[in-house]
Amino acid sequence: MSKAKRSPITGLGPYLRLSAEKLKKEKEEKKKKKKSATSDKSPSEMAATTAATMSIGSAVCCGPKTSTCAQSKLFTLRPTPRNSLTTFSGLKAATSVSFESDSSFLGRDSSSALRRMFAINSQKPNQSLPSKKSLQPQASYKVAVLGAAGGIGQPLALLIKTSPLVSALHLYDIANVKGVAADLSHCNTPSQVLDFTGASELAECLKGVNVVVIPAGVPRKPGMTRDDLFNINANIVKTLVEAVADNCPDAFIHIISNPVNSTVPIAAEVLKQKGVYNPKKLFGVTTLDVVRANTFVAQKKNLKLIDVDVPVVGGHAGITILPLLSKTKPSVSFSDEEIEALTVRIQNAGTEVVEAKAGAGSATLSMAYAAARFVESSLRALNGDDVYECAYVQSDINELPFFASRIKMGKKGVEEIISADFQGLTEYEQKALEALKPELKASIEKGIAFAQKKPVTA
Ligand code: NAD
Ligand code: LMR
Repeated sequence: MSKAKRSPITGLGPYLRLSAEKLKKEKEEKKKKKKSATSDKSPSEMAATTAATMSIGSAVCCGPKTSTCAQSKLFTLRPTPRNSLTTFSGLKAATSVSFESDSSFLGRDSSSALRRMFAINSQKPNQSLPSKKSLQPQASYKVAVLGAAGGIGQPLALLIKTSPLVSALHLYDIANVKGVAADLSHCNTPSQVLDFTGASELAECLKGVNVVVIPAGVPRKPGMTRDDLFNINANIVKTLVEAVADNCPDAFIHIISNPVNSTVPIAAEVLKQKGVYNPKKLFGVTTLDVVRANTFVAQKKNLKLIDVDVPVVGGHAGITILPLLSKTKPSVSFSDEEIEALTVRIQNAGTEVVEAKAGAGSATLSMAYAAARFVESSLRALNGDDVYECAYVQSDINELPFFASRIKMGKKGVEEIISADFQGLTEYEQKALEALKPELKASIEKGIAFAQKKPVTA
């Protein structure tokens, strides 16, 4: 959508608050009344007691073309009787009710977010809804993608466009972003898409944004390491984070651009220099390592994909990527050969894609999927859920200032670094942990030196 067509978005945040007690109480009261006809039920009853179909984009379109939005059935949510989310087993949110989605490709957690909004909307009068009976997800957060016309940026923008938690999606690139935004803006999901091209439009892009995702920069070609991208990408990240510091210093910042082991320390230094560094809100996105580890382990052990969770710690390059296979959920045993093969495959998975693409870039689609999951988790955290993800953050877990581990995220960002994963490591993991530290330390120091304009030694 061109900027000429921009229109304000109504504030919908208050409708996103969930009271589990309220829901339970309401459910019990409704049960007592013994209403039998589904057509007579309130939306919350349908959400809480029956399978319900949610139509996204049919009535709440935040853009100017509300009346032309077509009906679509994207999500079917079925309540499950168990209360499986009171303890976390990795990347699932700690909420009190579990719902499973039949068709949401973002998985169970997103369906849960949808279901909650679905219920909340029915509890409170919402003047933006055209009809009381409309079952609509509500959006409230603004997300910016910097590097949105790229291999990751485009599919990532598409996935974020499907999020019910997003009201505005700001797409920034140095070129070719107008077409991407025009294309995406035709999807009948709630968020409004705006395009911003070039440095002169960057500040406007960032104003009022809650989450900034940065996949801007060059990808690897066969034969290159991620560190070979440093000379170009360090400057790109530095410049973009300076603009973030000036325009949306409170936003969650997700760094995807490689080498992540160095670009995150660069971002931290830039934010410090601007006097706005909040270590709880700066994240190196390592979700793809977890996604890969979960996939490969599930395949190897013939497990149900959605259940598998492997924490991946350290950093995001070669041996600094350390999957803690002994901490896999559900508990599963591996032979020494399996551990070696899986660890090496997870560490080299990026290179596997770079070689398969044979010069046409690195992982884009799986990265977009992983980054969209991390965005969704961040939005849910901002919305008041406790969410657990692995990410590369400022850390006190060991002597290195930045380290990837499982973290608990909340409204203020990182609320806790989960140290439990580092207890009872196997000898293999302990050795690998020690072995990765010198390389990770050098990459961190290289990033800091660059941002402080000191001669780079590594
Ligand atoms: P790409 O070349 O397809 O896209 C990069 C985009 O960034 C392009 O559209 C380009 O115009 C834009 N860009 C360049 N300079 C910019 C600037 N100053 N401001 C805004 N936009 C700018 O590359 P890609 O495949 O999307 O990969 C992007 C980065 O993500 C690479 O550095 C890659 O190594 C990294 N990556 C990281 C992970 C991870 O797990 N963290 C995974 C895959 C790729
Ligand atoms: C990945 O892990 O796929 C990315 O870091 C891209 C790369 O260069 O391998």
